[in-house]
Amino acid sequence: DADEIERRIHAARDQLGDRVVILGHFYQRHEVVAHADYVGDSFQLAKAATAHPDAEAIVFCGVHFMAETADLLSRPEQAVILPNLAAGCSMADMATIDDVEDAWEQLEDVLGDLDTPDADGLLPVIPVTYMNSSAAIKGFVGRHGGIVCTSSNARTVLEWAFARGRRVLFFPDQHLGRNTAKAMGVPLSQMPLWNPRRPLGGNDDDAIADSRVILWHGFCSVHRRFTVDQIQKARAEHPGVQVIVHPECAMEVVDAADQAGSTDYIRTAIAATTEPTTFAIGTEINLVQRLAAEHPQHEIFCLDPVVCPCSTMYRIHPGYLAWVLESLLAGQLPNRITVDDAVAAPARQALERMLLAVP
Ligand code: 13P
Ligand code: SF4
Repeated sequence: DADEIERRIHAARDQLGDRVVILGHFYQRHEVVAHADYVGDSFQLAKAATAHPDAEAIVFCGVHFMAETADLLSRPEQAVILPNLAAGCSMADMATIDDVEDAWEQLEDVLGDLDTPDADGLLPVIPVTYMNSSAAIKGFVGRHGGIVCTSSNARTVLEWAFARGRRVLFFPDQHLGRNTAKAMGVPLSQMPLWNPRRPLGGNDDDAIADSRVILWHGFCSVHRRFTVDQIQKARAEHPGVQVIVHPECAMEVVDAADQAGSTDYIRTAIAATTEPTTFAIGTEINLVQRLAAEHPQHEIFCLDPVVCPCSTMYRIHPGYLAWVLESLLAGQLPNRITVDDAVAAPARQALERMLLAVP
């Protein structure tokens, strides 16, 4: 039962001491977050993975791409452990390396050699991948002069890319790409959505040539649930409500909200509000419920009345955390995540470009 699992986690954790560090994403359930040494958004957790060089193991309570990133950024001797290997991210799965390589070839048909800078020293396309992508995708990006971004630094990263290239191929999340580029003044007409079935459906070659940001077709199934109707209802029922949404929401939803930002942005915005305020939040329910519990002076609720956890984040059950900690104690390395040597070096390069651009 839950108390017994809790007791097992504490017992193993106490014996392991500094040999292990537990990182937890904001979307993890309370029973997991309660045991984390560090809780943060995906950018903060990537940095946290570099900040504990003496730990033998990093237990990552988050999803697969986050654990891969931790493996890339931590020391080679350190083991990164994902308590449940089934904790993936459906958005990350929407950009496969085969499809991205195929798109790159098709873009070369329209734009010429993509790895040779023009007379101004600019590349035709800089690939930018959201952190929510596989290590293979990050490796692709690293090989082609590109960079990784997270939801907290997408704008700074796009500025980095525009200083080096004529246009950006942004994947997997069309919404983060569109919302960020729009806020920077890029017109929607210069943000074509890439059609993966080009030979059948066809991308417009002129639109690709004129583009500033070519958007991949990925999305987050959790953030897709938030709508403008929900925002209008919240405003009608709660005069003065502050609506804050994650930039993985659709453009219309971000436009209708008062603010948009990463999970840490949402948390900080609420913490910085001193006057009792009503907040309607468009992001994953575990974070919204935790913020509501931490700030009883405010009324905080989720925009979507139907509870919407990220089902893959939720796969990190406390029972798995107990199991991996006990296994570490027994000298095993269960569920270790390692990135293939062939992609590790360029993937690390793409991540390090981000860490240098956004210290
Ligand atoms: P953050 O970068 O805001 O932590 O978001 C990660 C994520 O998966 C959001 O769905
Ligand atoms: Fe992926 Fe969406 Fe879950 Fe974030 S909330 S991990 S983008 S499925």
